[in-house]
Amino acid sequence: MALISCENVTMKYDGQTAVDNVSFRVEPGDYLCIVGENGSGKSTLVKGLLGLLKPVSGKIVFDGVESSEIGYLPQQTMAQKDFPASVYEVVLSGCRSRMFYGKEAKRRALMNMERLDIGSLKNKCYRELSGGQQQRVLLARALCATEKLLLLDEPAAGLDPVITAELYALIAELNESGITIIMVSHDIQNAVRYGSRILHMAMHGAFFGTTGDYLKSEEGRRMTGGIEDV
Ligand SMILES: Nc1ncnc2c1ncn2[C@@H]1O[C@H](COP(=O)(O)OP(=O)(O)OP(=O)(O)O)[C@@H](O)[C@H]1O
Ligand SMILES: [Mg+2]
Repeated sequence: MALISCENVTMKYDGQTAVDNVSFRVEPGDYLCIVGENGSGKSTLVKGLLGLLKPVSGKIVFDGVESSEIGYLPQQTMAQKDFPASVYEVVLSGCRSRMFYGKEAKRRALMNMERLDIGSLKNKCYRELSGGQQQRVLLARALCATEKLLLLDEPAAGLDPVITAELYALIAELNESGITIIMVSHDIQNAVRYGSRILHMAMHGAFFGTTGDYLKSEEGRRMTGGIEDV
């Protein structure tokens, strides 16, 4: 049984279709990249996985993980970048509410800050950090919620190439340590470099399959310019 299995999921806002009949599975240890143009429904599907918006048809089934156990890194907005809290408070807020402020929550927050090499930023104000540092803080926050599944919505948006490469290497390390990754991304080169499976959202039907099959598909060839040996 897959960790997550989505079958013919359709999602709407006020009668307007945002996700149209999408099916895919996430197995333990996978690194699934969700790609597709602006407005193709990627973030809406993420809301479905988190249980924030219900599909109007189809089903999302979890096995071995609950939607509340997903470590989530949201797509960034300007308002979030301006958040007036310390790094430690932001990371700690990722811990699930029943352990919030307990000893265990504090231990997890500190451990995940060390894991992502941001221990020295503990008392800094989040809004005074660089974009790359902010993404590390949000990744540490997401890790406080999970040891199983990370759901990342465009984690590298707005970062320079060096910091982007560091962030991808870090996410790959987390995946190798056993954490399943679902990542929404516009960065197709890195999606096919690191992802084991690709879900390509599109109005005329989604592609879901291994990265190898995606690279051979018409959609994949169009998006990558035909690179098959990455
Ligand atoms: N809260 C909302 N209310 C109404 N319509 C929405 C809402 N959020 C998104 N939509 C619409 O649903 C569709 C899918 O949006 P969504 O944000 O899921 O796309 P996306 O693939 O994440 O795009 P991007 O790459 O720009 O982040 C779009 O047409 C969008 O306008
Ligand atoms: Mg989005």
